[in-house]
Amino acid sequence: MGVYVVTGSASGMGRQAADKLWAAGHTVIGMDLHEAEVCADLSTAQGRRTAAKAVVAAANGRLDGAVLAAGIGPVPGSDSPRRIFEVNYSGVVELLTAWRPALAATGRAKVVVVSSNSTTTVPMVPRRAIRAVLAGDTAKAVAAVQMFRSAAPAMAYSASKIAVARWVRRQAVTPDWAGAGIRLNAIAPGAVMTPLLERQLATVREAKAIHAFPVPVGRFGDAGQLADWMVFMLSDAADFLCGSVIFVDGGSDAYLRSDDWPARVPISGLPRYLYRFARGRSI
Ligand code: NAI
Repeated sequence: MGVYVVTGSASGMGRQAADKLWAAGHTVIGMDLHEAEVCADLSTAQGRRTAAKAVVAAANGRLDGAVLAAGIGPVPGSDSPRRIFEVNYSGVVELLTAWRPALAATGRAKVVVVSSNSTTTVPMVPRRAIRAVLAGDTAKAVAAVQMFRSAAPAMAYSASKIAVARWVRRQAVTPDWAGAGIRLNAIAPGAVMTPLLERQLATVREAKAIHAFPVPVGRFGDAGQLADWMVFMLSDAADFLCGSVIFVDGGSDAYLRSDDWPARVPISGLPRYLYRFARGRSI
């Protein structure tokens, strides 16, 4: 039986994932603002440091896997863009960076980061914000979304989820992660019925937008089923899964972007592709 950490373990998908791992006989270190083995606030650098250290101590320096589900949604007037970036991006990247040696220590660890299908279905997310988040410049990222006024939290949310998915894909393939036996992947849920979605549905404008959004299967996702996917992505079945972003969204991404992906390598991307390919062959 393994030792797993789940952030956002007090509610929604994180709670379901923690419960399922626990029911399967694993040791689960829940991390959240409250009602968890490790309580800390991921919206502050100090909180992230506390969470990172406390989890490594609770796991005795060895982790078989991690689910990064803590996150805040884009409810206008509720959380600031800064807080959204801090929790949804820094609250994943800083924790995983600190936990990497503990994950490497077990040799076959698996990590699931919860991104979102808002990465590919929300128009006009500013590139500058995504670049700034990835460069660790939260203030610049906040400035890049402020012009969207009441839509600033939605832009911050999508930018944070794009950035975290890109971070996963960039890191997953490196010697520090793939080479250390750690399988790092992301899941991109669509609208899933959890307290986060309930808060969005409680806002008239948000509710309208959510109900108008195309979901080919015709309903919201179920948190337990999303957690089943996460647990699967922590299993041996994921030994060959590396840097993937798995969309479990009732078909919205396929409906809106059917021909955008898979895509051939564009001519502008060829030099980088060939360079990476050549490097890979010489290893
Ligand atoms: P939820 O609100 O039920 O659970 C999120 C958990 O994160 C809560 O327990 C909360 O206390 C914790 N959290 C929030 N801020 C925190 C902070 N500063 N420090 C520590 N913990 C904090 O939400 P849900 O829906 O289960 O969301 C899980 C993940 O899935 C999030 O990353 C969310 O962005 C993502 N997601 C959710 C979708 C949905 O429709 N519910 C769709 C796509 C992605």
